[in-house]
Amino acid sequence: MKIKSAEFVISNSDVSKCPDSSLPEYAFIGRSNVGKSSLINAITGRKSLAKTSGRPGKTQLINHFLVNNNWHLVDLPGYGYARVSKNVKKTFQKFITAYFEQRKQMLCAFVLIDSRHEPQAIDMEFMQYLGENGIPFCIIFTKADKLKPMALERNIETYKTKMLETWEDMPQFFITSAESGMGKDEVLEFIDSVNSQFKGD
Ligand code: GTP
Ligand code: MG
Repeated sequence: MKIKSAEFVISNSDVSKCPDSSLPEYAFIGRSNVGKSSLINAITGRKSLAKTSGRPGKTQLINHFLVNNNWHLVDLPGYGYARVSKNVKKTFQKFITAYFEQRKQMLCAFVLIDSRHEPQAIDMEFMQYLGENGIPFCIIFTKADKLKPMALERNIETYKTKMLETWEDMPQFFITSAESGMGKDEVLEFIDSVNSQFKGD
């Protein structure tokens, strides 16, 4: 899929104020600093569409971006950011869960996982939550440019093994780098195919 246009639509913390549209949408979720906003920029080819930062906790709202005038990409705040207060964390969690439970046009959540790290409980719990609520998701491993190919492969294998302790199958996954552009065509192809199924093509 070629990106012809990508534009910011709206930011908010109230799911009922998200765009009143039935266009299919795809949400980027994961720990703070995992690279959600950077990957949205890489995928759309727009360097500063979503705001990024070296400091975790940059994205604090639900951000909708309209792509090719016919689907939405959604940038969400990260979970597991220790430095925000407990109250702020609770508010985040509330609107993130409200988002996933209420946005029926959200066709797939991309759960971003830093490819450098060992499997983390918070990500496992979040995927468990998605599974229990019947919310479709894929895994996106990020920052692949930071590892040598062998180490990358080893970490993915470790992740698969961990997932298979609780899941019957490994969910569909993508290996990406916002830096090198690795994996972005695959993610776009996937979105394209889900969009087509949605339209009934
Ligand atoms: P929050 O909004 O705080 O939850 O973070 P986020 O998940 O949106 O992360 P963001 O895209 O802001 O990136 C965090 C940091 O990681 C930034 O310094 C990025 O430049 C860096 N980063 C993101 N993706 C990549 C990548 O693929 N490779 C490398 N080397 N750095 C990356
Ligand atoms: Mg962000």
